[in-house]
Amino acid sequence: MAITISVIKADIGSIGGHICPSERLLDAVRAHVAGKGAKLLIDHRISYTGDDVAILMTHRRGTGDAEVHRLAWDAFLAGTAVAKQQGLYGAGQDLLKDAFSGNVRGMGPAVAEMEFDERPNEPFLFFAADKTDPGAFNLPLYLAFADPMNTPGLMLAPAMAKGFRFAVMDVNHTQGDRLIELDAPEGLYEIAALLRDTERYVVESIRSRAAGEIAAVASTSRLHNIAGKYTGKDDPVLLVRVQSSFPATGEVLAPYALGAYVAGGMRGSHNMPLMPVAQDSGISYFDGPPVVSCAAFAMHEGRLTEPVDAFAHPFWNRVRDQVAAKAIEMRRQGFFGAAMLPMSELEYTGIMEKLKMLDGRFRVRVEKAGKVAETV
Ligand code: F6R
Ligand code: MG
Ligand code: MG
Repeated sequence: MAITISVIKADIGSIGGHICPSERLLDAVRAHVAGKGAKLLIDHRISYTGDDVAILMTHRRGTGDAEVHRLAWDAFLAGTAVAKQQGLYGAGQDLLKDAFSGNVRGMGPAVAEMEFDERPNEPFLFFAADKTDPGAFNLPLYLAFADPMNTPGLMLAPAMAKGFRFAVMDVNHTQGDRLIELDAPEGLYEIAALLRDTERYVVESIRSRAAGEIAAVASTSRLHNIAGKYTGKDDPVLLVRVQSSFPATGEVLAPYALGAYVAGGMRGSHNMPLMPVAQDSGISYFDGPPVVSCAAFAMHEGRLTEPVDAFAHPFWNRVRDQVAAKAIEMRRQGFFGAAMLPMSELEYTGIMEKLKMLDGRFRVRVEKAGKVAETV
């Protein structure tokens, strides 16, 4: 019988601004999931990345299951109660609706779920990013699943020779899920043309074309599309199955050595490089830089091994140094040009009011018979 992996994550409050959740908050979430999830789940694991708490669950109830979603929602409510008691910043901030309505999608928390028939060995990776949005995974997924410069398996492994099918979501469309499916390698230029626009087009999932098997699923929620205003960056999660007919673990990890500039960091309004960090890492420089963690698992009949912290390896120390240098370099130009996001992506409306006020003070200059005059 098929196994489902569900990861549901939310920012429900953190210490020192947006740094990380408290131990007591995490204990409350853990206690809820362990108690109420005992019959529902096969296995689970709670972790955090920056200020976001992720509940990773395995079960046999399929994707979008109301009871599994309710479990996560209620666990976040339990954590929020502690966050309020402790005076944590942004207590319950990602729980955007008052009452649970059967599925946490569209209610604030980010969700990534996949259902599949388990292989005899089932390695997979769980990524969580903070201080950025779902477009941050566009480039790493493109490189891992479509570029032989990154992934030699596309040339070497017969099971990967047919390539992969990308489902890309238009996250600006709020009346429902607007999706397009594109095949790599034939559709590479079309895939690239969409994925370059990280604020609008986001990889939702990837399937192997040979077997039709699900390979990767990312969360696609945009909090401001739910709340109608900015409520923080969307801080995405991603599940990737690896090895055999999928890219190898190293091929999926390699793109993160780039430290690509993504939307996020201070006040969710800047371009900053994405830093690979160890599990359960907090946030620091300039409310960033945006971070990504990766826990590698093996699974048998839904039972998880202990996680292996993929970015804790010494290799990534050098990458982190390079990303820190890139972050500092970008910050040297302050608000100027590429350092900040376009108006449409800024997390604050104050600047809009400023611009509106200034707009009224503009005057159009007209020239009349060689003389310069100003109109009102
Ligand atoms: C994401 C995150 C940021 C903040 C943003 C605004 O985890 O914390 O996107 O939402 O920096 O924060 P404040 O509350 O300081 O205005
Ligand atoms: Mg936050
Ligand atoms: Mg966050």
